[in-house]
Amino acid sequence: MPWRRRGALSFPGDGILKVTVVGAGTMGRGIAQVFAQVGNEVVLTDVYEKALSLARDSINTSLSKLAKKGELKENPDTVMSRIKITGKLEEGADSDIYVEAVIEKVETKRDVLQSISGIAKPDSIIATNTSSISITQLSAFVKFPERFIGLHFFNPVPVMKLVEIVRGERTPDSLVRKCFEIAKALGKDPVISQDFPGFISNRVLMPLIREAILVLEEGIATKNDIDKTLRLGMNHPMGPLELADFIGLDVTLDIMEVLYHEYGDPRFKPPITLRNLVNSGKLGRKTSEGFYKY
Ligand code: CAA
Repeated sequence: MPWRRRGALSFPGDGILKVTVVGAGTMGRGIAQVFAQVGNEVVLTDVYEKALSLARDSINTSLSKLAKKGELKENPDTVMSRIKITGKLEEGADSDIYVEAVIEKVETKRDVLQSISGIAKPDSIIATNTSSISITQLSAFVKFPERFIGLHFFNPVPVMKLVEIVRGERTPDSLVRKCFEIAKALGKDPVISQDFPGFISNRVLMPLIREAILVLEEGIATKNDIDKTLRLGMNHPMGPLELADFIGLDVTLDIMEVLYHEYGDPRFKPPITLRNLVNSGKLGRKTSEGFYKY
């Protein structure tokens, strides 16, 4: 198979892969980490210097947590040594897999996917971690759309078992099967979705978060009681407002905008409170304030 490399086996039946993750935000860091944890060589790249230094710290912290619990097969330094953190995308030339994990804006993803396409081999897999944007739409930005697929990870990536595999119009079954195998090799438990905005996860989650915000806006209950209801009444690990803060209110708003624009259905319409928080720079945990203060 074209993506097979010589060397120690890390995927069942396959060799070590060279993986490039573009975008060193919360998701990109986690994705880079899980690929490195199973023995692959990883390039993690971003145009923001600050994102790169934060990525190193956060991967180190995560690896230490896993090591402390005995969930890491190797020393954290060994895993870290497989991750090259760099501002230069060209270092990722010759990769077997690229994972785009930049912000949820079509224009930004277009620029990044075109740059990846400029350095990728014809048989490289190019995946996007988009949470909501059409895979078929994004596939127009790569040279070989039949090598393009959605691989949607969940935060915190090293902990969450799910990967949503999204098949675009031109994604062949063989690539879906390959990515299923890759996700399993990363220790994940994948699901497969057709290419509809928000796929399975955000099609279901965003109306829940939206409704929780409306319950707050309408003065029906306090934020604490709304979250407590879902935590204690439905056994969710986090209430929907806490979860929105955790995802990032800017990311939550971007996803709702895509869903609202694509379906034209008011059940996805972003609430004013969400827009106001984002406009005032309160983006959730990452800025120390969102619905809650951290
Ligand atoms: N790396 C490694 N380990 C981590 C970690 C990380 N980044 N973050 C948390 N952990 C570990 C902790 O060490 C801890 O381990 P032990 O229980 O063995 O001590 C465990 O995870 C739980 O963490 P905490 O004790 O710190 O806190 P918690 O019990 O509140 O759990 C949580 C944190 C795992 C995030 C949990 O609250 C949770 O599952 N929340 C829901 C997360 C969720 O829904 N994520 C999906 C968001 S949607 C998305 O990402 C996609 C999208 O498109 C929007």
